[in-house]
Amino acid sequence: MDALTMKKAAGEFAARYVEPHMLIGIGTGSTAYWFIQALGERVKQGLQIQAVATSKESAQQASALQIPILELNDVDEIMLTVDGADEVDPQLQLIKGGGGALLQEKMVAAASRRLVIVADERKQVQQLGAFPLPVEVIPAGWKHVRRRILEMNCSRVELRGYPQPFVTDHGHYILDCYFGQIEDAHALNISLHQIPGVVETGLFLNLATEAIIARADGSIQIIRRES
Ligand code: MLT
Repeated sequence: MDALTMKKAAGEFAARYVEPHMLIGIGTGSTAYWFIQALGERVKQGLQIQAVATSKESAQQASALQIPILELNDVDEIMLTVDGADEVDPQLQLIKGGGGALLQEKMVAAASRRLVIVADERKQVQQLGAFPLPVEVIPAGWKHVRRRILEMNCSRVELRGYPQPFVTDHGHYILDCYFGQIEDAHALNISLHQIPGVVETGLFLNLATEAIIARADGSIQIIRRES
């Protein structure tokens, strides 16, 4: 199976988790895309649900498929959120933000009872850090934040999109940070949050409850977080 077929398989598998009248969170990115498409198909066949989106892009895709979209501020607990990830370790700790929607993704994840990650096997790692860690920052002080991050044992920090910076849905910039293998993700997350100007990091720790991993041999592996 090629990458696209694996992403499609994981997304479609996750769409089966959605039950009538659920309030669900819909992720952003190349795998979540297939989840939203499959969900749209079920809505067309009469499934009634409501959804909260993690980005303008996903909201647009869902709306075009007649999936009703609510604002995060207008809901209480989201029953189930399905989203992609850039890296998934064996404890279901994640790096996210490759798609640029990490802030809203983390807020939606934190408001969700279950966070199911859809990914292909290439996203599985033993230790986080091969993928550069996205950090969302306030544009006015990004150079200072960059300097502080470089002092933290980080070999390289790139402003995403430079010289035309990528601007997030919330009007921020993203710094892609090359830490290499991350020994202690919790400590790194806390340290990054202590830098004035950091809005959010792409470290999603203790948030995912389950991962649906599509394999090149056509199989699907389900991993559940031990509670
Ligand atoms: C992300 O976490 O930023 C992306 O959604 C990952 C993906 O493309 O699946």
